[in-house]
Amino acid sequence: MERIVLCITGASGVIYGVRLLQELTKRLFVHLVVSDNGFKVIQEEIGITKEDFLKSLGNNCKFYSQHQIEADISSGSFLTKTKGVIVAPCSMATLSAVANGFSTNLIHRVSDVALKERKKLYLLVREMPLSLIHIKNMEKVSLAGGIVSVASPGFYHKPETVEDMVNFVVGKVLDTFDIEHNLFNRWGTPKK
Ligand SMILES: Cc1cc2nc3c(=O)[nH]c(=O)nc-3n(C[C@H](O)[C@H](O)[C@H](O)COP(=O)(O)O)c2cc1C
Repeated sequence: MERIVLCITGASGVIYGVRLLQELTKRLFVHLVVSDNGFKVIQEEIGITKEDFLKSLGNNCKFYSQHQIEADISSGSFLTKTKGVIVAPCSMATLSAVANGFSTNLIHRVSDVALKERKKLYLLVREMPLSLIHIKNMEKVSLAGGIVSVASPGFYHKPETVEDMVNFVVGKVLDTFDIEHNLFNRWGTPKK
């Protein structure tokens, strides 16, 4: 089974990470890292405790804490055998760490390794508005080969629910990794 690394950090929009986890585990084995602050935002925005979140994880998933810097996924030899790394949502703090090579936790480290190994790294960042520091950090990651996207749902597929909007963003991330899905109606195709 193909493998991918998914990281959830403490930015608003943790639902994007949770929906990605649901979709990815249907198709791939997911190495999952949730930051300490990611758990705080999951509790705040989705109302699930860390304990309940961990209990809900299915078979196609291995969980790591941000402190497990010695984990298999922190090594280039392991990461090259995966489809890449997604950080969704990605806080400005994690963006800054990645942009500046400041790898003090496992999420920073796997992102850093993805860049050095030229593996796909997708940062789904979330903040509003953006300071020049945020924009410069996005520029740095982009120049280093990472894919940076502000979580911005489209409206051309005529979303009717928040779930539709979340699915659009999740589907766009899956598109980047060439993962087939049916999460939104593509432009030019009839509405299902
Ligand atoms: C409810 C909540 C929402 C937050 N939303 C954002 C956000 O949208 N973007 C952001 O950069 N930081 C946000 N933060 C602040 C981050 O959690 C904080 O910068 C933290 O240090 C990020 O750590 P991490 O990247 O290791 O998870 C939020 C914090 C809380 C408690």
